[in-house]
Amino acid sequence: MFKDKLIVVGITGSIAAYKAVELVSNLRKKGADVHCVMTDSAQEFLTPLTLRTLSQNPVITAMFAEPKRWNVEHVGLAEAADLVMVVPASANIIGKVCHGIADDFLTTMIMATKAPVLFAPAMNVQMYLNPIVQKNIAVLKEQGYHFVGPGSGNLACGTEGQGRLIELSVILARAEELLVKEKPLLGKKVLVTAGPTREFLDPVRFLTNRSSGRMGYAVAKQAYLLGADVVLISGPTEIQPFPGVQCIRIETAQEMYEAVLAQWEDCQVIIKAAAVADYRPQSRNPEKMKKQSGDLQLVLSRNPDILAELGKKKKSQILVGFAAETENVLASAAEKAMRKNLDFIVANDVTREGAGFALDTNIVSFVFPNGEIRELEIMSKDDVAKAILKEVIKKLQMRSDGDG
Ligand code: CTP
Repeated sequence: MFKDKLIVVGITGSIAAYKAVELVSNLRKKGADVHCVMTDSAQEFLTPLTLRTLSQNPVITAMFAEPKRWNVEHVGLAEAADLVMVVPASANIIGKVCHGIADDFLTTMIMATKAPVLFAPAMNVQMYLNPIVQKNIAVLKEQGYHFVGPGSGNLACGTEGQGRLIELSVILARAEELLVKEKPLLGKKVLVTAGPTREFLDPVRFLTNRSSGRMGYAVAKQAYLLGADVVLISGPTEIQPFPGVQCIRIETAQEMYEAVLAQWEDCQVIIKAAAVADYRPQSRNPEKMKKQSGDLQLVLSRNPDILAELGKKKKSQILVGFAAETENVLASAAEKAMRKNLDFIVANDVTREGAGFALDTNIVSFVFPNGEIRELEIMSKDDVAKAILKEVIKKLQMRSDGDG
């Protein structure tokens, strides 16, 4: 999302200015063209040299310095920017922008830009709670400016409360959201399942599988970025959901079944990327099982097939399944798409290099119940998620045109 985007990072006078260093470095690593603008006070906390080195671009520190390019610099940057981020944003910059004061490079540039502007406030709790600051923020929000944070916790001034610069991951998530201009899933509710399930033998032992959850988490994130209200029902994973995605954590297939049934009805789209265990131990020992001499035989009972159940119940919902196969990939997927009444199934051969569990890439095909097949190249799980949602959006569009 950040690749080749021109992002202006405005840094103002707050002790949190040092955190802009990590932000700039992160944006660069993600492929953005980062231009830093520092106010006079910011330069008391941080040197332009640090930001110049990390952004690999000149840092703008003064309004009337000799421009690095031929054009009127603040206008040039304001026009070229895809996004302006003010991190950290002091009470002073918020007040100045709110009242139309443009007395330095940053305020002038903000005044001249049509790009979205995102403020991440950082200040003392009393300053933040001051009704003047609160009113300024409310006015700016009304005018279409964006805010992220602040968070709560220990503040540099020795007090505790709201005013800390919110975590970088949250700032980056909001930035990503603002960079996606088209929101075709606005007003739509999307349910995504992800990760493995755990089927317990006793309180410490369970049967599970190798699913990392990455594919489902990528789908949830991309659906959110496209404007959807996203509910992610997830088995145990190490991944954090994208900020803004509502995450319901479960462990067993039965718990996933109950959570899905409680949520699916008012959803327009359901994407089942979870690797649900088909079987569970017939009984779950309340205490840790003791070993016995000789072999142990386990009896397994069938878990509900959540996807098949939704296929029976669905009304106008778009229902998408996944099939991780090791043989007869396309034929088995087509059979499942038919049998489970799906709109399409995302099939992958998990034995192929670059596909399957715990990787950042996947190689998938979309298989439709009418036998149609669309094979996709090897791509990142984020790109697979985008392709899935593009197909979903096409189907939603056809449905609203009364065509599908
Ligand atoms: N699924 C489900 N509930 C289950 C099992 C699977 O909802 N109890 C969903 C998965 O989320 C996935 C799809 O069904 O979208 C996988 O199909 P499935 O036929 O269950 O695949 P496997 O169990 O992997 O394969 P097979 O039945 O062929 O062994």
